[in-house]
Amino acid sequence: MKKSLIAGNWKMYKTPGESVDFLKKLAMETVKYNDREVLVCPPFTSLYPAAEILKDAPVSLGAQNVHTEKEGAFTGEISPAMLRDSGVEYVICGHSERRNIFGENDSTVNGKVRISSEYGMSPILCVGEKIEERKAGKTFDVIRSQVENGLSGYDRPDMLVVAYEPVWAIGTGLTATPEQAQEVHLFIRQMLSNLYGRELSMAVRILYGGSVKPENVNSLMRQDDIDGALVGGASLKLDSFMGIVNYS
Ligand code: PGA
Repeated sequence: MKKSLIAGNWKMYKTPGESVDFLKKLAMETVKYNDREVLVCPPFTSLYPAAEILKDAPVSLGAQNVHTEKEGAFTGEISPAMLRDSGVEYVICGHSERRNIFGENDSTVNGKVRISSEYGMSPILCVGEKIEERKAGKTFDVIRSQVENGLSGYDRPDMLVVAYEPVWAIGTGLTATPEQAQEVHLFIRQMLSNLYGRELSMAVRILYGGSVKPENVNSLMRQDDIDGALVGGASLKLDSFMGIVNYS
């Protein structure tokens, strides 16, 4: 059975010291689940100490970004080998904050997805429409082009995770209704099925993200094509994150 994935995206929060404190507690609280996987994506400076703490814990480690090149004169960037060697197993690619604040486009995101897999890390391809796009009835067009371009030439569906994060739901307290989310997840699943065949598409985990909290996680997780959550704000506190991890 495919395990669900509950992922915390810490964004630019927590120093290495704060991360270590948090993860020691998280490692104690998390048990080995048969049906779900727990993942944290701390800032770069926390990855190395995080890997050490999580070594024997059933918690996976992810990064929030990666550069598209193997190495080179790219001041301020981080390479896939640096992440891999720090114990990273997943990489968030094309988060809407990267796209909208730092100008990443689909082709950059595609490069990140591809290089992550080349280095043995699972890419989490993030897609999602803005509020004006939803209001204009363009949600499916936006998702189609982000998925198609993000996965252009990509041939490792076995490693892939996709996250649907409507931009209007991120950090706003507004959540897509379970039905709104399911509709887009199903659409993504059908696209994956066209790209990789039905069996492989069923194995890809499609996460929902955008103001996921302990109060709304159960109804989201009950949807057929929602295989997990990408959690921002609520992943920063142990009790709210555990409330999501322990969804029923
Ligand atoms: P949020 O963020 O849970 O704070 O809305 C989600 C995300 O950006 O991945």
